[in-house]
Amino acid sequence: MEQPIDQPAASVPGTRRSPGIRLKLVGFLIPLIVLLVLAMAVAVVTVTNRSVRNDLIQRGVATSRIVALSARWSLVSDDNAAVYNLAVETCRSSPDIEYVAVIDTGGRILGHNDPRELGKRFIPSVRVVQLGGFVETQADDVRRNGKEMLEFSTAILHRGQRIGNVSVGFSKTTLIDAQRKVRRSIAAIALGVLALALLGSLALSSFITTPIKRLMAAIKVISTGRTFHRIPVGSSDEFGELLRSFNRMAETILSQQSALKGYADRLEQAYLGMVRVVAASIEARDPYTIGHSTRVAQMSCALGRKLGMGEEELGHLEKAALFHDVGKIGMPDEVLLKEERLSHGELDVMRRHPNEGAEILGMAPFLDRYVAIVAAHHEWYDGTGYPEGRKGAGIPVHSQMIALADAYDAMTTTRPYRQALTNTEAIESILEYRGTQFSPELTDAFVEMLRESPPLPDPDWKGMAL
Ligand SMILES: [Fe+2]
Repeated sequence: MEQPIDQPAASVPGTRRSPGIRLKLVGFLIPLIVLLVLAMAVAVVTVTNRSVRNDLIQRGVATSRIVALSARWSLVSDDNAAVYNLAVETCRSSPDIEYVAVIDTGGRILGHNDPRELGKRFIPSVRVVQLGGFVETQADDVRRNGKEMLEFSTAILHRGQRIGNVSVGFSKTTLIDAQRKVRRSIAAIALGVLALALLGSLALSSFITTPIKRLMAAIKVISTGRTFHRIPVGSSDEFGELLRSFNRMAETILSQQSALKGYADRLEQAYLGMVRVVAASIEARDPYTIGHSTRVAQMSCALGRKLGMGEEELGHLEKAALFHDVGKIGMPDEVLLKEERLSHGELDVMRRHPNEGAEILGMAPFLDRYVAIVAAHHEWYDGTGYPEGRKGAGIPVHSQMIALADAYDAMTTTRPYRQALTNTEAIESILEYRGTQFSPELTDAFVEMLRESPPLPDPDWKGMAL
């Protein structure tokens, strides 16, 4: 099955997973970008606010000086109506001018945009901050009649003498509104820049981490022995070269793995063949037992299928059954072929064959799984078997299945000293040993299998396949 190369590697059980490179990159870039954007926004707002304020001051100074110049001749000629009109028109000229006052040297208001102020004494504003002097004009940040405003005062001079004073008040509302608009605009721009920076940092981290993730997934695929597919290479930069190199390395490793597996398979087959030769040669010494191992293997597998075993397990069971008597290779003919009852000494020799078979199979590491099965194929369910006297669940299930097939085949094979039993007679004999030599459950399944489909002699059988 094809494995997705982009699949993230699972964390190793028992270890705490640390943040990935992508998270670390984003975690580093985002705060950095936020700080930079905030610093730039603050700097731009400060500079812009100062610029807007300076513009207003310049306009206020100019307005105050123009009014002072215009009022000069009206004062000299005592034309109070002209002074009044000058104040009114100047105030109308701009919506952010709060008041315009022309005052004589005694502090009496000669001209004002509010006619009710005419003739009254001019009350100075409450100065909040002195903004500074601009030639003949003084600028202040003041509070007047409860309003915050910028106030500009210019002396009216005639032939070097001060003959009056002009005071112009500008509302700060316009200034504050302008500064608020600037702040909003800059905040919107900063948010846009932040969004772009976020997307950019995600794209950058993805660009960096994607090849690494592909490498990790590919290494996992190789390490678990699943089918490896080349990692797609989409760039010619250092990451692309890294992926290309990894593909070459993986192909070399897999090629070597395949060659090694081939050698191992051939070695295993050679050894299996050798053990089969040994098993067949044992049977060849006694013409009455030719084909015994093969029949035992066939019946064991039939029982395994009835019990629902999978094909892989059935394969192991078949080999274990084929090799179950391989330990008889060292048994002398006078014991192996003896037709009379064996003496105690001969019985001891006979009972060594399960362990000797286990030793032969134990010489090859890949046959390890059969060692315990072959060693226990003459153990009895009630613990009275040999060589160790194991009982019940202590005997491998495969050994117990082989024991049933072994006994049945021995009973249904003609020997020089007795005729073969029929299927029915053999079943009755096996049932006599249910719960003593054989497991009750396995006996029931085996007998049911024999009754459903009794094994038939194979007329084409010519000996054990090598
Ligand atoms: Fe045996």
